[in-house]
Amino acid sequence: MNLINEERLLGHIRTLGQIGIDADGRRTRLAADDADKAARDRLCEWIREAGLRLAVDTVGNIFGIWETPENRREKAVMTGSHIDTVINAGRYDGCYGVLAGLEVIQSMKEAGIRTARPLAVAAFTNEEGVRYAPDMMGSLVYAGGYAAEDACAAVGIDGTVLGEELRRIGYAGETEPGFLAPFSFVELHIEQGPILEAEGYAIGAVENLQGISWQRITIEGAQNHAGTTPISYRQDAGLAAARVITFLRERCLIPGSRTVSTVGCLELSPNAINVIPEKAVFTVDLRNPDEQALQAEEQALAAFLSELAETDRVRITAERLSRFEPVLFDEGIVRLVEKHAARRSLRCRRITSGAGQDAQNMALLCPTAMIFSPSHLGISHNPKEYTADADLLACAEVFADVLFELAGAKE
Ligand code: GLV
Ligand code: MN
Ligand code: MN
Repeated sequence: MNLINEERLLGHIRTLGQIGIDADGRRTRLAADDADKAARDRLCEWIREAGLRLAVDTVGNIFGIWETPENRREKAVMTGSHIDTVINAGRYDGCYGVLAGLEVIQSMKEAGIRTARPLAVAAFTNEEGVRYAPDMMGSLVYAGGYAAEDACAAVGIDGTVLGEELRRIGYAGETEPGFLAPFSFVELHIEQGPILEAEGYAIGAVENLQGISWQRITIEGAQNHAGTTPISYRQDAGLAAARVITFLRERCLIPGSRTVSTVGCLELSPNAINVIPEKAVFTVDLRNPDEQALQAEEQALAAFLSELAETDRVRITAERLSRFEPVLFDEGIVRLVEKHAARRSLRCRRITSGAGQDAQNMALLCPTAMIFSPSHLGISHNPKEYTADADLLACAEVFADVLFELAGAKE
């Protein structure tokens, strides 16, 4: 039996995907910007139309809650994800999970199903962390891992302050984060990697998530003339940054290493063709599923930076932006995903989340797991991100089965 209204879910994904397309045709909804506001407004309309109770907490997390007089004292089966995006994003990352969560709850309600526990869907603020660090911020605050005041005081890459931006767009709510006690949390998401499709699986039961370490590194050298300064006289911050980038890649290539590293932002000053850069500012994203291994990578980078400061005669400072340890999801929920996938004859594989997810923070509060749908060619954080409708729907049906079982049929 299919629980959800498939056409409505696909329509919602398409509609939300049209919000935040800029003049160059790029989809960008950074946390609490105007496009994020437009997407939030649309989501809130849908939550109201579904007849759910709408709540917005003090860090702008949005909730659609379905509770009845009989079950409102019970802990809620929660789901959710995010609707903020990276720059020039795809349409599925985060949105699929939020909209499928809403769809499951709305469909259950419309079908007159009664559950032993309330259900709630959340759209967490600033999951991507592109505008404000740390990433997964809204769920981290919700789970008690970060103070709401600190989150609201976060200064963005554009100099804005998150709390002020939330007020400006009308999403600085009154509800205290953590107000709804979760019985469990299940997040549906696209895989964002190539494994399921390449190996012929229809669905992933996510059993763990790798640790993530974000730093911003500043290298200061000396500005000088590109033509007249002999190589031995140079204190080239750009060259030092390049050395860090290649060092990080070489670490990943050590046989047996499971580390992935990325330098995604790099700014050189003064950024002129004939001037030796006096300053390089860049980010480092390090990930590994093993905490000890991740710490070893951080230490290796720190040692390399000290060495580089000597050899290249530059000043280097490193600032931590965000740090999450690897997470093991709840075995009981992972098995539930496998059971319902098998019941629907979907080939299912256990998988590790390479991406950061709101579920990793909710796991601090309650039994938590995730479900992945295949991502075509493993492309994500890119407008080419694509999952076939049939795959989205098949995984959403399993997701509905799992939420339904966790919510418990009313006696
Ligand atoms: C979020 O998408 C992340 O993994 O960086
Ligand atoms: Mn996501
Ligand atoms: Mn993402």
